[in-house]
Amino acid sequence: MHRDSDEFDYASLLQAELPKPTDTHSQRPLALDLFAGCGGLALGFEAAGFDTIGFEMDSDACLTYSSNLAGKCHQLFLKPGLELVSDRHVDIIVGGPPCQPFSVVGSQRGKQDDRDGFPAFLSAMRRYEPKLAIFENVRGMLYRNREYFEFIRAEMRDLGYAVSWRLLNAVNFGVPQNRERLVVVAHRKEWKFPAPNSSHSQVTVGQALAGVVILDGEPFRFLTESMDKYVATYEAKSKCINPRDLSMDRPSRTVTCRNLSAATADMLRIKMSDGKRRMLTEREGARLQSFPDWFIFCGPESKKFEQIGNAVAPLFAKAIGQSAMKALSLPDLSDGRIRQLNELDEQIRLYA
Ligand SMILES: C[S@@+](CC[C@H](N)C(=O)[O-])C[C@H]1O[C@@H](n2cnc3c(N)ncnc32)[C@H](O)[C@@H]1O
Repeated sequence: MHRDSDEFDYASLLQAELPKPTDTHSQRPLALDLFAGCGGLALGFEAAGFDTIGFEMDSDACLTYSSNLAGKCHQLFLKPGLELVSDRHVDIIVGGPPCQPFSVVGSQRGKQDDRDGFPAFLSAMRRYEPKLAIFENVRGMLYRNREYFEFIRAEMRDLGYAVSWRLLNAVNFGVPQNRERLVVVAHRKEWKFPAPNSSHSQVTVGQALAGVVILDGEPFRFLTESMDKYVATYEAKSKCINPRDLSMDRPSRTVTCRNLSAATADMLRIKMSDGKRRMLTEREGARLQSFPDWFIFCGPESKKFEQIGNAVAPLFAKAIGQSAMKALSLPDLSDGRIRQLNELDEQIRLYA
């Protein structure tokens, strides 16, 4: 089923690539998923052959994770020093730690700031010594929080890892959305980032939303007249060249919680043939994030949109998970090789 052909069926592709789990595995390599959200990252890693266990403070997100995935999510507030599992070997640690914008130089507040997720992530690495630890974050970490980014990588190196990182765009991994994310990998195995697809095979919004079922009683959320006016003024003032309405013949802009749920000028919306605009439904937002239709979100509407917008796009996560699975099958790196890779990382800044 080629992406250019009329036969292309995105919903079926998602179903095949990210199948609903049929049992709990517990024999496969184990990924601890920290700051797990609803499990977008975990869904991709399970499809790539891992068992997962999630840790997340939000009860609705935990419920979504545990209701859909083979792995279960524990509701807790992650902080340094916690014992997360005691009865299984931990192969890898993954996660999207929240990063509070602050400078670590001088005050070292990072280690004391409860809202910052990295101390807990590093602490779990120290305790479980996984062969790989992978985190994703927004690209802003390379700019506003650059010093902190350098600090985290230095900490990972001090724990005996080679550290590699890339900016990757989910649109190049079958996700119908431009979503650039920073992916950082601490590894004691040879590591290769997944190779992007060719730009010819990008999935468009029209392809992604084809055949979405609108549930009985699910009303479209139309923009009100005053919202329409606000949008028009915003677009005029910001000299918006591309109106923010979704184009069916291209991938979408980045899907965030804010632009799925809130009445902001930045919201993702569909312009209907009569000129009226409506916001996306939960299922449409989920499709743009590459969640298969069997994946059900729990909680009130606002929390569902939050889970969808916060997630790592599962198809993108699967590509990273497959690289992780390959890496695990390789021999451990020597100390010399780890040093060499870290020296190279200092010199080379490669963007994918
Ligand atoms: C970016 S989202 C993670 C998305 C997730 N990786 C996915 O793919 O669906 C970050 C999550 O971290 C959770 N979180 C933030 N601080 C936390 C803490 N200290 N302990 C546990 N969860 C936390 C938030 O509730 C949020 O769901």
